[in-house]
Amino acid sequence: MALDRKQTPNDLNAFWMPFTANRQFKKNPRMFVAAKDMHYTTSDGRQVLDGTAGLWCCNAGHCRPKITEAIQKQAAELDYAPAFQMGHPIAFELANRLVDIAPKGIEHVFYTNSGSESVETALKLAIAYHRARGDGARTRLIGRERGYHGVNFGGISVGGIVTNRKMFGSLLTGVDHMPHTHLPHLNAYTKGQPEHGANLADELERIVALHGAETIAAVIVEPMAGSTGVLMPPKGYLEKLRAITKKHGILLIFDEVITGFGRLGSAFASQHFDVLPDMMTTAKGLTNGVIPMGAVLTTGEVHDAFMQGPEHMIELFHGYTYSGNPIASAAGIATLDTYKEEGLFERASELAPYWEEALHSLRGLPHVIDIRNMGLIGAVELEPMAGEPTKRAFTAFLNAYEKGILIRTTGDIIAMSPPLIISKAEIDQLIGTLADVLKTLP
Ligand SMILES: Cc1ncc(COP(=O)(O)O)c(C=O)c1O
Repeated sequence: MALDRKQTPNDLNAFWMPFTANRQFKKNPRMFVAAKDMHYTTSDGRQVLDGTAGLWCCNAGHCRPKITEAIQKQAAELDYAPAFQMGHPIAFELANRLVDIAPKGIEHVFYTNSGSESVETALKLAIAYHRARGDGARTRLIGRERGYHGVNFGGISVGGIVTNRKMFGSLLTGVDHMPHTHLPHLNAYTKGQPEHGANLADELERIVALHGAETIAAVIVEPMAGSTGVLMPPKGYLEKLRAITKKHGILLIFDEVITGFGRLGSAFASQHFDVLPDMMTTAKGLTNGVIPMGAVLTTGEVHDAFMQGPEHMIELFHGYTYSGNPIASAAGIATLDTYKEEGLFERASELAPYWEEALHSLRGLPHVIDIRNMGLIGAVELEPMAGEPTKRAFTAFLNAYEKGILIRTTGDIIAMSPPLIISKAEIDQLIGTLADVLKTLP
């Protein structure tokens, strides 16, 4: 008998769920069985308003016809082509489309299958780039406290979220971290970029002096730190990082896995902040979250450093079986079409002031200690329960789900990043429901 997938399976034991409180979940599962535009449908038939674009990825909303059709058509036409020493046209077309919307100076695309793989690829590219230019002593990588760069070994090494690192041994060597930029005593309730903290970029000069510039390959940061709980870059901070890295011949990598594809109102955060990195890592919104795909976008200079030696030789010994997979590429093109045809990046920008006002109306509610926002992203930080960190926000998440909205929590921070198709009425519903949840929190 065929399995009715709309019913909750009765044995949840086999699936070890990622980044999930497995025992809590399996006692009281929360299952989505369908989605359309701004809503999920639960296995008990309720509609849940998506306040997080899935996991910051479904920027065009759910089950969008153009993307669905493109995937169906591609699966029937060319399902797979070898990624090494062979090509297929749509991966090239998507790469051109990505370069078209990227900041001027970004000229090449290396495909991966996730944000984590994009990060590993960019870190490897950085080290190999210097070596290819005869500067092979540049092997150190500099990240930042509270940074999130996925879950693979390079990413957790340069990342700075303690829980994601401490269980996994000694990680990569030759890594250092800049301080994070969360200064709640100075910047609480800032709308947009905070005034204070640009000077924290000067810490990079200290790290460069400590190790010697000639040993450092790259600095990687999220232009706006998402997963740690939404931290905006202080005014002038990214510009300083760019100036210091340039001065010392260090590559600057922006991890745009969350900020890419319209979240801040431009295609990429690097355009929003007008700071050009040497590489950008992307994933998530690249295919609207529908099919796994990531990409590292590089300048001509990074790419060209590898294009030497005999022409029959492979220039870079790196890549994935599914790099530029035809179905993912088709999904990517249809996603970019959808963003463009519906003007979704501009829409995010237009809605941002309304979103900001709605979000900041939560100020003064019980336990709220900070609110931050930019583009269509926002965070509400709660005072942790004494002796039980994360519990208050997790309770808010569970209560919100019961009341029909999906939010995300990190520590005691509630983060929201709705699909860019959200309406003003849906913003009111999301924030209004969250207000009700906050009023009744223990
Ligand atoms: C900035 C950043 N980098 C990397 C990743 C990892 O992406 P993935 O989960 O697709 O591996 C994420 C995921 O949230 C992210 O926010």
